[in-house]
Amino acid sequence: MAKRHPSLVLLSQDHHHGLALALRLRQGDNALLTDGWTHDRKEQAKHVQGFYNEELRWHFKAEEDALFPQMIKHVSASSSLIESLISQHRQLEVLVRRIGSSSGTQLEESLVSMGQLLEQHIRSEERELFPLFESTMPSDVAEQIGSKVKGIHAKQTLQERAREN
Ligand SMILES: [Fe+2]
Ligand SMILES: [Fe+2]
Repeated sequence: MAKRHPSLVLLSQDHHHGLALALRLRQGDNALLTDGWTHDRKEQAKHVQGFYNEELRWHFKAEEDALFPQMIKHVSASSSLIESLISQHRQLEVLVRRIGSSSGTQLEESLVSMGQLLEQHIRSEERELFPLFESTMPSDVAEQIGSKVKGIHAKQTLQERAREN
């Protein structure tokens, strides 16, 4: 992945994790069984829900609270892209819920759809949104965004620690 503006590095790290999961979901029975991955769809469903609760929902929050509003304000060319990115967040949440409550063919299809949409979503952010940020965002605003993203990430980490204890 491209070298990112310091304010986007945490989000890009999340994207890296998201892409690894998306690839496995898309690959179905061809996915490599490394790092504890399994071909059991119910186990995959648990994994997806854990990923959403521990990582993805915080990531969406950081983007929707810290990044997107400032992008719309300062980079007007980003507004239609952001509208579609937000709608993808909601679609991904629908899929996470469906994955948690379905079985058989529906579960299998939802897992693959989640992999496809997650990958497409991350690629749009990395290839379209982030370069727009890097070329146009005023540096003081970019810095503020970076610290707000950091704050949301820190809350996520605190919550994870609290869960472990
Ligand atoms: Fe996103
Ligand atoms: Fe993202």
